[in-house]
Amino acid sequence: MTTEAGRKILAEHPGTTGSLGCAISEAVEDAVSREGYRYVLGSVLNQVLLHQSVIGMETMAALDKYGIEPDMIIGCAGGGSNLGGLISPFMGKKLRGEADYDIVAVEPASCPSLTRGKYAYDFCDTGKICPLAKMYTLGSGFIPSPNHAGGLRYHGMSPILSELYDQGMMRAISVEQTAVFEAAEMFARVEGILPAPESSHAIRAAIDEALRCKETGEEKTIVFGLTGTGYFDMVAYEKYNDGQMTDYIPTDEDLKPGFDSLPKI
Ligand SMILES: Cc1ncc(COP(=O)(O)O)c(C=O)c1O
Repeated sequence: MTTEAGRKILAEHPGTTGSLGCAISEAVEDAVSREGYRYVLGSVLNQVLLHQSVIGMETMAALDKYGIEPDMIIGCAGGGSNLGGLISPFMGKKLRGEADYDIVAVEPASCPSLTRGKYAYDFCDTGKICPLAKMYTLGSGFIPSPNHAGGLRYHGMSPILSELYDQGMMRAISVEQTAVFEAAEMFARVEGILPAPESSHAIRAAIDEALRCKETGEEKTIVFGLTGTGYFDMVAYEKYNDGQMTDYIPTDEDLKPGFDSLPKI
């Protein structure tokens, strides 16, 4: 209720718990209404991926130090910045034909921008105050169900990742949240680090692949991005342990209003 954009979104979606797209609209409005302030999007846009490439460069340096070449690189994908940063130097090698990697974006089944979205020009935010970007999108009018994928609840995807996905240079999968929390708890018990729900999407995919390799006897080096800790998400872990967590996969019908909100270009 403290911003014009927030009030408008609430009027259109009464009682909504919001999304990353809503947060962007509110933050931009707040920044531009103060003298001397500017807002820089923290995800999605190309310059953010450039900054995040330090993650990939450090990963590659660490792997090189031990003479390890990964087969598979996995990252959770909300706006796409951590995954884009993690894969950037590896994707460079792949594009130059120097190496091949299986690069996988993992998104929540409740907000499947790459796996079920359209490749189109769309607004980066729900309030439609940001510039358009060509990306895989569910439509800026799509607000995902209020689940615990947190920062992955974004209607679009980084234009760079979208282009790479469109060209078949990487693939994408979606996972359901109870399976994600199961993986998160497994990881916490083994590693002593409570992962963020967002990161746990990548952990789920890494565990599934490792289990598959165990069955087939295949040896594979799997790298995944651990983007944050889950200490701010204890309520979600509590819900999971109390058996109150549900999975939600939108139907084609649920996705239709979002696609209808795409700008006609
Ligand atoms: C811990 C964590 N990981 C991942 C993400 C996803 O963002 P991106 O896809 O831009 O890396 C977020 C977003 O808020 C986050 O908080």
